Amino acid sequence: MARTLRVGMVGYRFMGKAHSNAWRQAPRFFPLKAHVEMQTICGRTTAALQAARSQLGWQRACTDWHELVESPLIDIVDISTPNDSHAEIAIAAAQNGKHVLCEKPLALSVKQAQAMLAAAQKSKVVHMVCHNYRRIPAMSLARKMIGEGALGRIYHYRARYAQDWIVDPDFPLSWRLQKNHSGSGAHGDINSHIVDLARYLVGEFKEVSGLTHTFIHERPLSAAPVKTQGQPGNPARKMGKVTVDDAAMFLGRFENGALANLEATRFALGRKNHIEIEINGSKGSLSFDFEDMNRLKFFDNTNPADRQGFRDILVTQPGGVHPYVGQWWPPGHIIGYEHTFIHTIADFINACVEGKPVEPTFEDGVKNQRVLEAVEESARSGKWVKV
Ligand SMILES: NC(=O)c1ccc[n+]([C@@H]2O[C@H](COP(=O)([O-])OP(=O)(O)OC[C@H]3O[C@@H](n4cnc5c(N)ncnc54)[C@H](O)[C@@H]3O)[C@@H](O)[C@H]2O)c1
Repeated sequence: MARTLRVGMVGYRFMGKAHSNAWRQAPRFFPLKAHVEMQTICGRTTAALQAARSQLGWQRACTDWHELVESPLIDIVDISTPNDSHAEIAIAAAQNGKHVLCEKPLALSVKQAQAMLAAAQKSKVVHMVCHNYRRIPAMSLARKMIGEGALGRIYHYRARYAQDWIVDPDFPLSWRLQKNHSGSGAHGDINSHIVDLARYLVGEFKEVSGLTHTFIHERPLSAAPVKTQGQPGNPARKMGKVTVDDAAMFLGRFENGALANLEATRFALGRKNHIEIEINGSKGSLSFDFEDMNRLKFFDNTNPADRQGFRDILVTQPGGVHPYVGQWWPPGHIIGYEHTFIHTIADFINACVEGKPVEPTFEDGVKNQRVLEAVEESARSGKWVKV
């Protein structure tokens, strides 16, 4: 009989919701090697936590993550909290023999990420960073095509991750805008994803030259109070310092000689969660737009000259033709954002049963963090930095 893996998850907001959905759906759609029990959800505020427990479908709730990582009822710890708590929770979980799935960026620094990797390796637990975009079927297909040589020698990796949620100067100073909680701004938050895809699709970075910038240096500490008719004007709101970048860009060289060009910004009005990737090689090119994530565009230079052009591959073919999608719907019945987490968690569960590494591991998290730090160092010094 298949064993049961009991999950404890810390954090219940954006990623907590996405992960809860994935823990629930993975066993329903994927042939998993274990049953999954959504055992305990952890947060700090009792009332909100209880509401989340009931809505997201967890059996128990606890308000202290120490209790969760030490509990004999838990086999897997899922970390969906802000970046400053990843290391402490992951290290304690690993020391208690729990497999660990941790949100990205893995840590606040390379040093912290290395400590997390060391703890996971020492305890021989399975460890994974939730760079879920790797498991968009179009991205998995892109990797397969590049691996098979469909693009030939890779010349360029160009990626842009653009959002616009903090263009308004009145947007309050959330944890994502404070270095001590987040490590960095758009850089660690969203550049980390396209750095991960770069490493997944093209290879390791050799050196980088970066630029980071903060457009708005002070923000209100709290959200604007709702205006009530007949009330005097809003009292002056207390302001706090933004201590991270609003945008980060860098050029780079991969070890295999390809060139990289990456941009992450939260100041691109109209762009909500825009991830655009183009890879050019000696035999062809690939192009991807996350907002049209079921498609991968392929230019094949070996096609006859009179019918060349970007071909639109709808990556929804079941029967093992395209990765992951065979577990879902018939061809053309498209999938979305939440499926990327389900694919990630399905692979993670099977790896926990087999006791095998599952990428991206904490080692990938360390390598990712090295690229992020090298870019920051370059932005400070104005020089190229080796990764
Ligand atoms: N993979 C992705 O695409 C993706 C997308 C968004 C966020 N993230 C990452 O997920 C993590 C969480 O981001 P989010 O957007 O869900 O943040 P959020 O602010 O929406 O939620 C954070 C949650 O953590 C809880 N929390 C904070 N400190 C805690 C503590 N000490 N103990 C227990 N609970 C605590 C909060 O109560 C909240 O429930 C971050 O590392 C972020 O970078 C990843």
